[in-house]
Amino acid sequence: MGVRTLDGKRALVTGASRGIGRAIAIAFAAEGAAVAIGGRDVTRTCSVCQEIGERGGTATPCPGDVGDEAGAADVVDAAIRGLGGLDVVVNNAGVIAPYERQPHEWEPADFDAVLRTNLRGPFLVSRLAIPHLLAAGGGVLLHVSSIAAVTVWEGEFAYGVAKAGLNMFSHHLAVEYAAQGIRSNTLLPASVATEAHEAALARAPDRAVVERDLLARHPVGRFADVREIASAAVFLCSDQAPFLTGAEVRIDGGYSRR
Ligand SMILES: NC(=O)c1ccc[n+]([C@@H]2O[C@H](COP(=O)([O-])OP(=O)(O)OC[C@H]3O[C@@H](n4cnc5c(N)ncnc54)[C@H](O)[C@@H]3O)[C@@H](O)[C@H]2O)c1
Repeated sequence: MGVRTLDGKRALVTGASRGIGRAIAIAFAAEGAAVAIGGRDVTRTCSVCQEIGERGGTATPCPGDVGDEAGAADVVDAAIRGLGGLDVVVNNAGVIAPYERQPHEWEPADFDAVLRTNLRGPFLVSRLAIPHLLAAGGGVLLHVSSIAAVTVWEGEFAYGVAKAGLNMFSHHLAVEYAAQGIRSNTLLPASVATEAHEAALARAPDRAVVERDLLARHPVGRFADVREIASAAVFLCSDQAPFLTGAEVRIDGGYSRR
């Protein structure tokens, strides 16, 4: 096999038991990276590792709740034990909010739950992973944000606030670690066909109408496939993007330009 884009890299992907994170982990492994698979569900995390192993890749399970200090430590510790160090961290774990309420109707506990996974989680994982990136002489952080960070998704203000906060967190990392060889970027997808996205559509009172309106907001006329997000993640985390840091990459089929 010839040289692959991520040969020799050791990468942790949080929330890789399904959806976008799983696709990123599979793409990373296909490009030669050894991957650590984060996720809340131990069985699913192990089954993604097995799947990658059967395709000839290297993967290690890293179960844990990233919104919790001890859980985030479990995830990063397992990655270090399994991979021997870290060059790449993808903060992908996130929850799509199912609330659909105006801001004043939100319960504080629901607001906290959204920020806990989508903003606190990336902070908790990054603060533990950065010393390992520094020990490796530098590395890459990628945060799976959302187009909701820069456009208003009505009914889901806490999700937008959390993702906008994640973008600013990434900008701080980009600037404050640039001299130490760490890059940090965000990916901003619009709708991606995943289990979570499907569940959100299934909750809609009139699914056909909601889906039609949502599709109409995507100039490309369809939702993204997880592999289309994964291929951008491969590029951003590779040595082919050495000058790319502090970027917000809108991978939205034109959604935010409409
Ligand atoms: N699907 C979309 O349309 C879409 C659009 C824009 C952004 N995103 C973002 O992409 C990311 C992945 O979304 P998805 O659609 O693949 O979701 P998903 O629900 O299919 O997968 C989410 C993954 O994150 C994990 N996870 C959730 N909470 C966790 C926690 N507290 N600790 C550890 N792991 C946790 C889950 O176990 C799962 O592996 C999320 O950050 C989401 O906000 C998704």
